[in-house]
Amino acid sequence: MIKEKTFVFHNGVEIPNIGFGTWQIPDEEAYDAVTTALKNGYTHIDTALVYRNEKSVGKAIKDFPIDRKDVFITSKLPAQTKGFDVTLDAFNETITNLGVDYLDLYLIHAPWPWDERGKDCTKGNIESWKAMEKLYHEGKIRAIGVSNFSEYDIQALIDACDIVPMANQIPFYIGRDQESLLAFCQKQDIVVEAYSPLATGAILNSSEIKELAAKYQVTPAQLCLRYCLERETLPLPKSTHESRIIENRQLNFTISADDMAKLNAIEDIRTK
Ligand code: A2P
Repeated sequence: MIKEKTFVFHNGVEIPNIGFGTWQIPDEEAYDAVTTALKNGYTHIDTALVYRNEKSVGKAIKDFPIDRKDVFITSKLPAQTKGFDVTLDAFNETITNLGVDYLDLYLIHAPWPWDERGKDCTKGNIESWKAMEKLYHEGKIRAIGVSNFSEYDIQALIDACDIVPMANQIPFYIGRDQESLLAFCQKQDIVVEAYSPLATGAILNSSEIKELAAKYQVTPAQLCLRYCLERETLPLPKSTHESRIIENRQLNFTISADDMAKLNAIEDIRTK
């Protein structure tokens, strides 16, 4: 479900509808980037143990004059960490790095280790999920979810566990709209978070996107991010430049149904 400025998970917890992504922001730059994001109104920060920037992200949040409860923090269980006890250990490492006593959202980073992409790790994912359910019931995490999970991977958790994931964070941008996975998640009331919503920058020079952006008097990045919202996905743009950090939250326009149809028909720039 979407409210004006938040999405609402199936347990009622609200998540701000634009997040600040920190993937590929090195630790030494993360403090300034997160501080700049907070200064410019972001209240939702996305990190992961594997990004190796949690300490700086946590310190930036702590040093900023904002209450912990007013910032939504997401982190992720490393993709290779599968199992009950190892999940509890990784969670503790993450909250220690961040210097917090709870997380707003904790995700299984991927269904398989990055170097074994596609491997069926259902058993390990179920064990990790049970550990996350325990942390959720203990109040240490307000919402739990997954990332890079296929329909098959999600269904396996639903069949074996108690809690349906509240979010699935997937690569999603104009040209890569993951239609069947998106429909599956939306049917299950799973919020889809769009990572790499700018295709890590690759689509910003597309002439079609530039033309449409000019029509709406917005930048190509704003068009791409608004597109995510129009598809009911939650974009997580990443930038280390203040002007872009500001621009990426100014999405107060709508894209017409005709133009959405044009954008939906664009091919994935990264596979052309
Ligand atoms: P930078 O960090 O130098 O600003 P994604 O969010 O899809 O991962 O894309 C991130 C990439 O897009 C980064 O290279 C980032 O560069 C760039 N980027 C982010 N916001 C904008 C923007 N508003 N205009 C142009 N490039 C942007």
